[in-house]
Amino acid sequence: MQHEISLDDGLLAFSDDVAAHLLDRSPLDFHAEFHRICQQVYGQIKNRPTVDTSALKDTGFDVFSEFASARMAHGLSEAYGREVEVQRGEANSVIEPSEALKEHVMEVARHCLTDEFERYIESYFGCFFRIDHFDLMRSRPYDQPGDSYKWHRDLDPMAKIHVMIYLTDSGDNSPATLFARLADTRRCAEKGYVFPPQSRRIHDLNELFSEGDREIVPVRPKLKAGDATIFTPSRILHRGIIHEDEFRDVLLLNILPSMNPWGSEINRLGLDRHFVGRNTLWIDPYSRFKPSLPTDKKFEIPKWVQLGHHFPEELV
Ligand SMILES: [Fe+2]
Repeated sequence: MQHEISLDDGLLAFSDDVAAHLLDRSPLDFHAEFHRICQQVYGQIKNRPTVDTSALKDTGFDVFSEFASARMAHGLSEAYGREVEVQRGEANSVIEPSEALKEHVMEVARHCLTDEFERYIESYFGCFFRIDHFDLMRSRPYDQPGDSYKWHRDLDPMAKIHVMIYLTDSGDNSPATLFARLADTRRCAEKGYVFPPQSRRIHDLNELFSEGDREIVPVRPKLKAGDATIFTPSRILHRGIIHEDEFRDVLLLNILPSMNPWGSEINRLGLDRHFVGRNTLWIDPYSRFKPSLPTDKKFEIPKWVQLGHHFPEELV
């Protein structure tokens, strides 16, 4: 298939009329097709050695120790503290940053997005990546923590990566995010627990199984401020844990495949859009400016998605 891709002011993208046609199917399918195209583009532009990303591919998560320095993490957490006080929310407070805080976040991000990190993400995707947006989050003690605190997968493109930079320590008894390994997530999918509606989400995955079945033991990485977890939120089950009096601060990077290096898009499109949270399933990846799409289209969850694959053809 010949695609009409053009370079405009440093960014590769499809022309608008072609992009509209490519969206004419389920978002899970058009994001997977876009990912394939990004891989083809990357193969023509760049040829560099890959690094081992088997933990992320095979289990759905990995840990980057000392991703940011402890000093940098503590500094950003303090900056959150100065801005979160006037924005009362639920257990997860999403901070709407001031201009100063945006600059602070970019300083941390630029420090963390090293050549080594780029190589890791590009090896995993097989293509360039973009940061769709940042989420600046403080999880606090709360009576009714909500649906992120029960087991779920995010209905997002299957390629999507979350990089969660911890700005506070996370030990055995701290607020945290727990993961179910990909193999265990697949066992749950076989029981019909894939993207459960909020009313059907559960706290313990072992409720899905009978006595005598192998127990699912979630993974709870121990982290210091500055460490990061990297995970694929649409592929594996995960849930948050809050604490009765501790809070947790994270800087979350929402990362997707791209035809362009991440820095090119920031140079071209500016920074403000990276601080606007949005649903990354319902975006048009083919267009230059990645606009959001209406979210009311119904679609089925195909088997390859249920089982946490990136592409339909991986289902054997
Ligand atoms: Fe989630």
